[in-house]
Amino acid sequence: MADDVFPPGFFDRADPGADTAFYDVPRLVTHIDDGAIAAVGALYAELGVDGEVLDLMSSWVSHFAVPPRRLVGLGLNATELAVNPALADRVVHDLNADPVLPFPDAAFDDVTCCVSVDYLTDPVTVFRDVARVLRPGGRFVVTFSNRCFPTKAIRGWLSTDDAGHVQIMNAYFVLSGGFGEVRAQRRVGPGHGDPLYAVWAARATPGDGADPGPPDG
Ligand SMILES: C[S@@+](CC[C@H](N)C(=O)[O-])C[C@H]1O[C@@H](n2cnc3c(N)ncnc32)[C@H](O)[C@@H]1O
Repeated sequence: MADDVFPPGFFDRADPGADTAFYDVPRLVTHIDDGAIAAVGALYAELGVDGEVLDLMSSWVSHFAVPPRRLVGLGLNATELAVNPALADRVVHDLNADPVLPFPDAAFDDVTCCVSVDYLTDPVTVFRDVARVLRPGGRFVVTFSNRCFPTKAIRGWLSTDDAGHVQIMNAYFVLSGGFGEVRAQRRVGPGHGDPLYAVWAARATPGDGADPGPPDG
């Protein structure tokens, strides 16, 4: 279905090589500034992200102001994950080689993904599988800014702006068929350092309808 919505080449990347090779070197750096990092933590606290939580595309920091009861990190670099003090469990898994998550159904209360969604080449399948591993009512909370590794981001992401990125996120959630109403907010606006946008939705339950709209922040 995604093929009908996104133009040819949308999910291509300048560097089509294996992600495992690109992420082989640990990058113990932050990818957004302190204000944007604080905004991620504040969002998680405001939404009450807690319980058993999966941090998708995780690294050495997970940005929680209030740590969840148990946090599992899935990423590509074992060294980065090993030094992330927030993680209780660590899984190295390439989502572009295999978009199916190595977890049972309804394993998590919430799932987060920070400044990484632009690297997924089969995102609708990943979003659908995130819904599978969420418990009823569990949220998938996606945050992003305007910085990236450009050779590894998909061309569709690079071809548009912040508002376009919010629309892309809406499309992923809706096309996955696994979520209810989609919410979008700008959490850090222009003139305050790195912008920070959040798009999230809860796992669909019968009677839910997805309602993609513009960011309300
Ligand atoms: C820009 S970093 C962001 C890391 C972290 N989420 C944060 O907020 O700082 C991108 C992360 O995406 C992960 N990643 C990139 N491609 C991936 C893939 N194909 N499968 C799983 N994780 C991937 C990498 O391990 C890397 O840690």
